[in-house]
Amino acid sequence: MNDTLHLLETRRSVAPVALTGPGPSPAELEALLRIGARVPDHGKLAPWRFIVFQGAARERAGDIVAAAFASREPGVDATRVAAERKRMTMAPLVIGVVSRAAPHVKIPEWEQELSAGAVCMNLLIAAKAMGYAGSWLTSWFSYDRSVLEQFGLAESERMAGFIHIGQATATPDDRPRPPLDSIVTHFAGEPS
Ligand SMILES: Cc1cc2nc3c(=O)[nH]c(=O)nc-3n(C[C@H](O)[C@H](O)[C@H](O)COP(=O)(O)O)c2cc1C
Repeated sequence: MNDTLHLLETRRSVAPVALTGPGPSPAELEALLRIGARVPDHGKLAPWRFIVFQGAARERAGDIVAAAFASREPGVDATRVAAERKRMTMAPLVIGVVSRAAPHVKIPEWEQELSAGAVCMNLLIAAKAMGYAGSWLTSWFSYDRSVLEQFGLAESERMAGFIHIGQATATPDDRPRPPLDSIVTHFAGEPS
């Protein structure tokens, strides 16, 4: 089996809590973003963009998440707010993938959204190929417009996911995958 197939057969997501620095170098980050953007894209619309969270800016992002959490859950325990504050700071690099899908004369929005998903997956695979691990998470705040606005998203944009990237301190065992016979049919070409 070649290296690419081996990577795809064995890659696992590693949760941010098990990611540490050092993260990708500036050159690696640039390559990640370039590779992330090399996805099928019907109509060549580039219906996605990136927001990079690194260094101290991650702490500010965490403050935004924590403040939004506290205002959604008045009186919540301080330890839970503190846990929310950490969400954007565990991995040394977090790449937000923003979907810019919008009505178009020819290309359905659904296809534009699928392209954003492909961006997220490319980032995970490229990070792994560079020797890092990562995970693709949305969390509740991908759906909180006040957080998204403070992260710089326009009203019309949506968060496809945050790709947390770093060095794995632990790699989880594989998880069960759906048996192929539960997800595959072969079109018979005859009326059923
Ligand atoms: C769009 C999307 C959003 C996700 N958001 C979360 C999340 O917020 N929290 C979470 O625990 N897992 C989330 N996951 C699941 C993980 O990314 C991942 O699928 C899971 O940990 C196992 O992944 P693996 O099969 O790549 O190892 C999300 C997956 C996708 C595709």
